[in-house]
Amino acid sequence: MTAFGPNAPLFYDRPLDLVRGEGCWVWDAEGTRYLDCYNNVPHVGHCHPRVTQALCAQAGRINVSTRYLHEAILDYSERLLATFPVALDRAVFVCTGTEANELALRIARTQSGHSGVIVSDFSYHGNSSGLAEITTGLPHPEPFSASARAVALPDPSRWDGSSEEMVRHHLALVDTAIGSLQEAGYGVAAVLFDTAFSTEGLLDVPPAYVQGVADRVREAGGFFIADEVQAGFGRMGDAMWGFEGLGIVPDLATLGKPMGNGHPIGAVVTRAGLVDQFTKDALYFNTFGGNPVSAAVGLAVLDALGEDRLVERAHETGQYLQQRLSDLSSRFSCIADVRGRGLFAAVEIIDSKTLPDPVACRAIVNAMRDRHVLISRIGPADNILKIRPPMPFGMDEVDLFIDALEATLAGLDGAAR
Ligand SMILES: Cc1ncc(COP(=O)(O)O)c(C=O)c1O
Repeated sequence: MTAFGPNAPLFYDRPLDLVRGEGCWVWDAEGTRYLDCYNNVPHVGHCHPRVTQALCAQAGRINVSTRYLHEAILDYSERLLATFPVALDRAVFVCTGTEANELALRIARTQSGHSGVIVSDFSYHGNSSGLAEITTGLPHPEPFSASARAVALPDPSRWDGSSEEMVRHHLALVDTAIGSLQEAGYGVAAVLFDTAFSTEGLLDVPPAYVQGVADRVREAGGFFIADEVQAGFGRMGDAMWGFEGLGIVPDLATLGKPMGNGHPIGAVVTRAGLVDQFTKDALYFNTFGGNPVSAAVGLAVLDALGEDRLVERAHETGQYLQQRLSDLSSRFSCIADVRGRGLFAAVEIIDSKTLPDPVACRAIVNAMRDRHVLISRIGPADNILKIRPPMPFGMDEVDLFIDALEATLAGLDGAAR
């Protein structure tokens, strides 16, 4: 038991041993079935037959490193790029979201000639030392990088004045961050934002703010990197990519998790002008990124998304989910706020003094597990329920989830109004 390193902090007080999955359902070793309202990696559904068949078929033909020609990666690049604005016309393949963000930062730094990076406070972008140093979202032993600045995000649920004032106030913080990076001699290479602002608590950040940040960073000679690891591939229901809902076209977009439905594939999507110059300056070689099996899997995920109408369905189901959660919030005083779009929802839990209640939040997550429904928690105060199911999640699954949550909340001491 002790031979396995500490790379897997487990969910739940009673961790789960899952042995099988299908669509939005998973089964444990005892044969108990759980409704999966949490996992975004099996994006088009656990063990989607189209994806597993594509994976097995290609693995049975050939899989090699990316130093050889292979048609599937060309087909996949074209199909993937067709989902992006025309300005973004190059894809570079990697294996994880971490690698994608590392590569995007490398490109941004070398092409801007600057090293400074702006991130949002309490964001998370990956597990390398370079990303840990610019992360305030999860604990890490590395000191926060001298060449990074973490800015507070505008959060409408915590702002009393007008939206315009809130945006103005928070853009002034970005101006200060840019000024301080320039004064310290780092300049600004990039801003790196998760376009769902998920680790931050799935905040409802106004597009005007994000557009203002993009303008300021570009004015300073830097690039906008949209981290689509959480929001991408239609999760938010209104579009394929999170940046579309924010009204911007990034200079670089980074993809991961849902891209391979569990197979490790990621990408940086950017402009030819940026990556072609980078390729002249650096030999970038990624042994596994975009290998034939990964390309076949990536194509099958795009096929499944289209054939099963999963993005449109995420929009419809997401509206119903928000409506049912709002209804619950009017009946349970422990719910301070409900937010989200598509198949990504956040429910903020507070105590009787209206303070964040991480203890109750944790109890709810564990009680839901005992009712055979899987969810998790996010946010700086660890008091936000995180609901982010596989994309085939439909109206019936919303009803099952809401029934379980309602019964759980009713069972919490003093929670019911
Ligand atoms: C927004 C975001 N970016 C990047 C990553 C890193 O992805 P990976 O764990 O595949 O390296 C994560 C992981 O949770 C993430 O949430």
